[in-house]
Amino acid sequence: MPALPPPTLIVRNIGELLTMAPESVPDATGPLGIVPDAALVARGEQILFVGPAARLAEVQFAASDVPPQEIDLGGRVVTPGLIDSHTHLVFAGDRAGEFQQRHAGVSYGAIAAAGGGIVATMRATRAASFAELVALGRTRLRSMRTHGTTTVETKTGYGLDRETEERLLAVAARLGRERGLPRVISTFLGAHVVPPEYRADRAAYVAAIQHDWLPRFAGRADFCDVFCEGNAFTAAESRAILSTAKGLGYRLKLHADQMSACGGAALAAEWGATSADHLDHASDADLDRLAAAGVVAVLLPGCSFTLNAPYPDARRMVAHGVPIALATDFNPGTCYCENLQMMVALAIAHMGLTLPEALLAVTRNAARALSLSDAGTLVAGQRCDLALWGIRSHHEIGYHFGVNLVEQTIIGGHVATA
Ligand code: NIG
Ligand code: FE
Repeated sequence: MPALPPPTLIVRNIGELLTMAPESVPDATGPLGIVPDAALVARGEQILFVGPAARLAEVQFAASDVPPQEIDLGGRVVTPGLIDSHTHLVFAGDRAGEFQQRHAGVSYGAIAAAGGGIVATMRATRAASFAELVALGRTRLRSMRTHGTTTVETKTGYGLDRETEERLLAVAARLGRERGLPRVISTFLGAHVVPPEYRADRAAYVAAIQHDWLPRFAGRADFCDVFCEGNAFTAAESRAILSTAKGLGYRLKLHADQMSACGGAALAAEWGATSADHLDHASDADLDRLAAAGVVAVLLPGCSFTLNAPYPDARRMVAHGVPIALATDFNPGTCYCENLQMMVALAIAHMGLTLPEALLAVTRNAARALSLSDAGTLVAGQRCDLALWGIRSHHEIGYHFGVNLVEQTIIGGHVATA
């Protein structure tokens, strides 16, 4: 075998390496493709070798004047960096007052109808500068990274006018260029709710999205998303926006059937969306459609936790053959939490996912929910995005909850500091 290029990073003495790719790593076992007593070698952004430490001695690397950085894990666990495939990362202000109102018995819908909710965050976000929004986004991305997340999808949708939606896209692009932060995948969600200035003419708002904003923003967002819901956009409005976006080359996502059954899952399947998110009220027929179309279900247990609402029925989705990802939905209204480990814990405790299913849902399947082919598994050739855990058995994940079990994060081969 010819020598591999000189490494820049060697991670040794890994007690359990969870590759998430049992089919492509020899010696890996079980659904998570676990290699005990393992090593991982990278050059720059890319993994060169993963496997049993004993096999590393057989691999030849070309010599280099610069010695690789070496990390000794002392028998601890390594997984792919976690992937948060649904967040509303960039907004200003908070809604702590609404949180208290809800606990006094006022519903999410009633608060929104009274001028709070998404529109309250819209007002604060419109008033915030580019620099303020970058600073807020950076702090949140650092918190996510501290908890093991190396890729974050982020949606616009708190601007709801052209200028602010454009600013939110620019903030996401700027954060995406900052070294050491999680990779950022950008989604345009102009169709989050109809803003107050368009309430009397919803059709004009949908038309502005279709004929002005979507063409203007093409190439600046990877995905287009729509909140298809009673108090947001109807199935017909959602279909119009999705069809225009698809024609312009956007990939599609949908906030589907979160608070009521309103046809979102069926639309996601019809339009070949990459993911359908929430799905709390999806029917069996909807799930069959999603499975047939290969749409990933992105489930967001932090919303159920925050709103004290029933959790989505993940076992039913597994039974219908729908691939499942888990994400935070980080936002100021329904889940103000950066920690994906917490979503794993909730999904196991309240949605009936097994530990392997939940771990695949924040790695391999989450990559699929973002159409990423270079992340979510630890295989030679993939990006070197790693979570280095302070535990000796992955069985502690989800079981030991509400604390941060991740000690260090590596993003694109770069060891992140705190
Ligand atoms: O995913 N569903 C729509 N958007 C968010 C809530 C946003 C908010 O309340 O600010 C969600 O739950
Ligand atoms: Fe959301």
